[in-house]
Amino acid sequence: MSGNDQNLVASISLDGANGYGDVDTDDISIKSFTDSDVSSSEEETPKVNYLLSDTMLSSSSNLKSFQNHLIFSKRIIALVGAGLSASSGLPTFRGSGGMWRNYDAIDLATPEAFRANPSLVWQFYSARRSAALKARPNAGHYSLAELARIKNGDFLTLTQNVDGLSLRANHPSETLLDLHGNLFEVRCTGFLCNYTQMVFKQPLVPALADNDFPLISADIDDATVSTVDNKGYIDEKIKNIPLKELPICPKCKKDLLRPGIVWFGEPLPLKVIDTADNFLVQEKVDLILVIGTSCSVWPAAGYVDRVKSKGGKVAVFNIEADKEDVEHDGGWVFKGDAAKWLPIALEPVIGRNFIPRRCR
Ligand code: OAD
Repeated sequence: MSGNDQNLVASISLDGANGYGDVDTDDISIKSFTDSDVSSSEEETPKVNYLLSDTMLSSSSNLKSFQNHLIFSKRIIALVGAGLSASSGLPTFRGSGGMWRNYDAIDLATPEAFRANPSLVWQFYSARRSAALKARPNAGHYSLAELARIKNGDFLTLTQNVDGLSLRANHPSETLLDLHGNLFEVRCTGFLCNYTQMVFKQPLVPALADNDFPLISADIDDATVSTVDNKGYIDEKIKNIPLKELPICPKCKKDLLRPGIVWFGEPLPLKVIDTADNFLVQEKVDLILVIGTSCSVWPAAGYVDRVKSKGGKVAVFNIEADKEDVEHDGGWVFKGDAAKWLPIALEPVIGRNFIPRRCR
């Protein structure tokens, strides 16, 4: 984990580095998103036989020690990032997956980018909506969903992912907080209009129909890149869609809709912050699972230190995890694909019988 990106910390933080300053009361309600919304059915299957890679086998004492702590942990938090959905085929933000066409995904996730070029930003989010609808939850999503059911009110997932895959894995919605919003929510940009709605129809408007090209930049063929501009390249597949053809609010019928994402520089919904804070202050959290996240964005990253500062332990599931800092503090690192590790690591509590056959 890098965890040290101060620029990003400052840009998404609610107020400076700790992220707990003034918050807007403009709350976004989190709505339920089930598999039936996207017409995909997940099969139930009998017993799973996990195949452990060499790296996984070599860590068996680490695994036992983690599982002992897990079994005796009363209250648990999972902090989830893009790496959890990576093996469902969705790209991460930093590293090789972080480009969309010629654009850095992070540059497009700002209110400034939307104001300057709503056509570009809508095409980016429309491509992400398409990809998320085509993706399927993986064994990691199912494992957390099962943990949530078994631990009942003593488990909370804080997800930075906006793809809806956790809910499609039937993660109980009352124990799942969308820290950064949801790709399928749309909101009116009008100052006086409060329209907000979950919409799964894709594309949202005909003008966004042919931007269904791949999310990962490596898939751009040279033929689509023509002239050079001052930021890099002009990509001919990006269209300049006129404002009136972009999604317009069906309520006020005049202002643009925007994706229901918490962009850099915007506050997290107060309800989300409150729910996470209440969980943290009620009683000690014994364990935080830090899954597939670079921990570079606040306030999300701050939850790890808050659990640690009260004596809770940290377990990291990351393909690129750096062991030293976490293990030094008595925590655990499971290096590799979170979708493979989570069912194994959580097995003493969640069992083996709930993961669909295609996820094994
Ligand atoms: P990042 O792209 O910053 O980090 C993804 C992490 O997942 C990295 O640490 C990878 O090593 C790890 N990873 C990749 N594949 C994995 C796998 N199969 N199993 C386990 N780990 C894997 O994504 P986030 O930390 O989620 O915000 O980024 C946080 C926020 O920054 C996002 O929610 C987004 C972004 O800008 C907004 O858009 C507001």
